Amino acid sequence: MPAATAPRLAPSILSADFTRLGEEIAAAEAAGADLIHFDVMDGLFVPNISIGLPVLAAVRRATRLPIDVHLMIDRPERYLEAFVEAGADWLTVHIEGAIHLHRTLAQIRELGAHPGVTLNPGTPAAALDEVLPLVDLVLVMSVNPGFGGQAFIEGQLAKIATLHATLDAKNPDAILAVDGGVHAENVARVVAAGADRIIAGSAIFNDRQSVAEATAELRAGMAEGLAQRAGGR
Ligand code: DX5
Ligand code: ZN
Repeated sequence: MPAATAPRLAPSILSADFTRLGEEIAAAEAAGADLIHFDVMDGLFVPNISIGLPVLAAVRRATRLPIDVHLMIDRPERYLEAFVEAGADWLTVHIEGAIHLHRTLAQIRELGAHPGVTLNPGTPAAALDEVLPLVDLVLVMSVNPGFGGQAFIEGQLAKIATLHATLDAKNPDAILAVDGGVHAENVARVVAAGADRIIAGSAIFNDRQSVAEATAELRAGMAEGLAQRAGGR
């Protein structure tokens, strides 16, 4: 097994104050964010509508960080080119929404972005077997997608551990990301289970603390989790 590298942190701007989005992104960047996570919801694949192409283009102008776009939309193949053109460096689609997933992932790579695949909490890890060689990222949803601020589904920890081991064997260069309900109190367990990228929305953008304080707390938990993983838990 390759030595574990330090996990990356991707704040999800879904929980940011959209009236001050540029400032919120600048605060995340100053606090040491590694990427910006951008959640797209279409009101069909998930029961909520969020932000889309014009906002992504604005975020692209507002930061030098890579942008990690999470498409929670039905038939994402219709919009791959538009999202890459608007600024997506990483483009992740749901297995449940993409009919021709294999082709869709290949197209994302042809467009010059990093292809990612994700699965809802109710979808088993084995459903990804055929596409693992095609991706740069696998994203485990630890909530049912659609909203920020939901509770982490504990059962997904086993899926994180399973996919960590599967990627080690089948595509060791790919990254394992986790999204949903991750905060300072549980992030160590998520990293110990094998997460390489932590996505956090309400744990970073909230009324209780500054973005810098929230980031520092999460980083401390991430370091603790990495030490636990290195020590074999
Ligand atoms: C949920 C989104 C997440 C969301 C996470 O459907 O995909 O990226 O912003 O928010 P928290 O971290 O608050 O659960
Ligand atoms: Zn997301």
